[in-house]
Amino acid sequence: MKKKLSANKEINLRPFSGPLLDGPHRAAARSMLYPVGFTEEDFKKPLIGIASTWSNVTPCNMHIDKLALEAEQGANAGGGKAIVFNTITVSDGISNGNEGMKYSLVSREVIADSIETVVGCGGMDGYVAIGGCDKNMPGAMIAMARMNRPAVFVYGGTILPGCLTIERRAEDCDALPSDAGRAGTPLPAATKELDIVSVFEAIGQHAAGKVSDEELHAVESCAIPGPGSCGGMYTANTMASAIEALGMSLPNSSAQNAISPAKLDDCRRAGAAVVEMLRLGLKPRDILTKKAFENAITVVIALGGSTNAVLHLLAIASAANVKLTIDDFTRIGKRVPVVADLKPSGKYSMSALVAIGGIRPLMKTLLDAGLLHGDTLTVTGQTMAQTLEGVAPYPNGQQIIRPLDNPIKKDSHLVIFYGNLAPEGAVGKITGKEGSRFEGKAIVFEGEEKALKAILDGTVKAGHVIVIRSEGPKGGPGMREMLAPTSAIMGKGLGKDVALLTDGRFSGGSHGFVVGHVTPESYVGGPIALVKNGDKIIFDSVKRTLTLDVPAKELARRKKAWKKPAPRYPRGVLAKFAAHVTSASEGAVTDRDLKL
Ligand code: FES
Repeated sequence: MKKKLSANKEINLRPFSGPLLDGPHRAAARSMLYPVGFTEEDFKKPLIGIASTWSNVTPCNMHIDKLALEAEQGANAGGGKAIVFNTITVSDGISNGNEGMKYSLVSREVIADSIETVVGCGGMDGYVAIGGCDKNMPGAMIAMARMNRPAVFVYGGTILPGCLTIERRAEDCDALPSDAGRAGTPLPAATKELDIVSVFEAIGQHAAGKVSDEELHAVESCAIPGPGSCGGMYTANTMASAIEALGMSLPNSSAQNAISPAKLDDCRRAGAAVVEMLRLGLKPRDILTKKAFENAITVVIALGGSTNAVLHLLAIASAANVKLTIDDFTRIGKRVPVVADLKPSGKYSMSALVAIGGIRPLMKTLLDAGLLHGDTLTVTGQTMAQTLEGVAPYPNGQQIIRPLDNPIKKDSHLVIFYGNLAPEGAVGKITGKEGSRFEGKAIVFEGEEKALKAILDGTVKAGHVIVIRSEGPKGGPGMREMLAPTSAIMGKGLGKDVALLTDGRFSGGSHGFVVGHVTPESYVGGPIALVKNGDKIIFDSVKRTLTLDVPAKELARRKKAWKKPAPRYPRGVLAKFAAHVTSASEGAVTDRDLKL
């Protein structure tokens, strides 16, 4: 494949840096670069950007400065001249449950815009982008798809689990959060693995009186032991796996610990790989085909990944001009089983999956079963099938990835619902542990905070469908994640007794009977805006229907009386986002229907 790509034409290795830096009339541009380390010789090399998302804002990205330096070395050793630059990041783990979380999805667009801005302005011929948190990963990918310059994505890697040592009696085994779902199989001795979701769930248990102040403090202070992305199959690990399946990161790079020799090596190889992409004439849109997105969806389903993958893959596809719809998730989901027993619904952390070989053996199994396209390209220049040749199976006796014929769920956990409550679709994460149907009475909240308070103070009871609205992309704005309410539901022990419906979205850490991305959202007058306390709501995940059991005539009356709320943010980045963002069922992107 490499030969075929490079033999086709004479490749200009400096299509953007050449016009920026060559010739007497560009002397001023060159003079600006000597002080940052350029030599005369460097001006003859392709200019390679290294987009770093380093920040001490969050542990997810605190090590990425060092990874960026490794990628810089790799690009230079590969024959390019690298320049490291930074973009922003925010932390959902910190912001969730707070007004600040409204900036989270917005940051995806800001990150895409900022990478596009620096790469475009700086005449970079190709680039590496290194991300380690939920929004900087799809943000980097959107920039790559938009710009279509040779580019490789590097994942910052997963965090290790926190480890809590506790004094406990046998009867206390279910008293702390990481025992959730492990009834009958408590951890040995007095240790337990924790992560950020453990803390959110401990808050609910604390409110229910099951966890003391001291225990909550113990969980809080040791859940996050160091650098790396949240450690279950939450959004970051889901997106890392999806990006590898898309072919946009190096093979075996999505399942690595943040602090590991393997991750440093991945960065060096990524720097060299982007120079090689230039030589091959290989660009992101050669890789980001419809089949590549189908591969990403397949891997996300098999791993039991986050609902955010739906939103982000739609957005990346939109930037790549690939026609991907939410219905593609249903089509693929009918034939792909969930086989990974990973948190939040399952038992194991990402680092446990890393220890048995990561996601490559699973991808090989999916390929051999005809569930993965083998002829898609990757950033290596090889096809997906070529990169999977010789991948060894998982070790005997491992419990994390099940065989395809004995899955955790025989079809997708990502369920696209339609119905009179969601005429343009909604996204649920239904693992089967919650059952396949839920019927209950609506209890309606305008915004997340009011819902969280009602869950914690006991207002929400078994049989309720919690409706959280005014949280959509436009109305929030920013489509906040409902991790605090879903974790509080779990912590209160209501996981099987209540359901949650929202025009917001979910963290990859959310689990339970939860359906989000309800479209049209309430701010634009979608049917979710018309729900009243006590209305009957029926979810059917087998038929994929979401029904508000209220007569059409009554709904028409409510619609007539409905008034569009005033925008919450008239100025600033939230206002800009709200003005431009498309529906969640189209990826909530901001650069599509711009009227120029
Ligand atoms: Fe960064 Fe979870 S908050 S990966």
